[in-house]
Amino acid sequence: MKKITIAIDGFSSTGKSTIAKELAKKLKYVYVDSGAMYRAVTYFAMENNIISDTFFYKDELIKKLDDIILTFKYNVSLGFAEIYLNNLNVEKEIRTLGVSKLVSKVAEISEVRKKLVEQQKKYGENKGVVMDGRDIGTVVFPNAELKFFMNASASKRAKRRFDELIKRGDQVTFEEILKNVEYRDHIDSTREDSPLIKASDAIEIDNSDLNLEQQFKQVYKIVKKRI
Ligand code: C5P
Repeated sequence: MKKITIAIDGFSSTGKSTIAKELAKKLKYVYVDSGAMYRAVTYFAMENNIISDTFFYKDELIKKLDDIILTFKYNVSLGFAEIYLNNLNVEKEIRTLGVSKLVSKVAEISEVRKKLVEQQKKYGENKGVVMDGRDIGTVVFPNAELKFFMNASASKRAKRRFDELIKRGDQVTFEEILKNVEYRDHIDSTREDSPLIKASDAIEIDNSDLNLEQQFKQVYKIVKKRI
């Protein structure tokens, strides 16, 4: 079986990471959640009073970028790698609505993107990687052998995200989650640097009416033909 690079892009909360994780497990590939990296930088900025709902000191963040060390460590019991910010596991902290509200503003900054894209490209050097995000098929791995672009209606995506956060015990409303999903879609697809667009050679999957199992079947059938 040959090892390939698989890029999965798409709008917020399309279930990209769930599919990417499953795929990596099945293929024994490395899984990289690139969104977690943008979230971790955002969390760092929040913790260091560089960004909040009311201010954003962009230059300060750019100056501090070298102080941000992001690593992934494989968690055997979970079966995937978790993200560490300066040696601290921040998997839980980066998934809050607070981070979701600010992350797209951080992800617009070219200096941030340059740093993270450089690191992401390294993860793909030996192939055998599944990476999900917004610019994986267009910028990080433009030569990936296989690219998917996931989509679903905003309300379906918001409902999935809402259920996830409620299950974790977060106090959120469906309306604010929907608003956040739409807000991020807008910024992510209209920003100047690496906007979210479907790569011309990406296979589009609309999963509005597919459950996880159906989605995985569809994706895996395509993957099998390419490896
Ligand atoms: O994938 P996730 O929803 O966790 O990503 C959080 C945010 O990080 C996105 O809304 C987007 O602003 C940014 N992002 C990005 N490029 C990527 C991955 C994520 O700009 N490759």
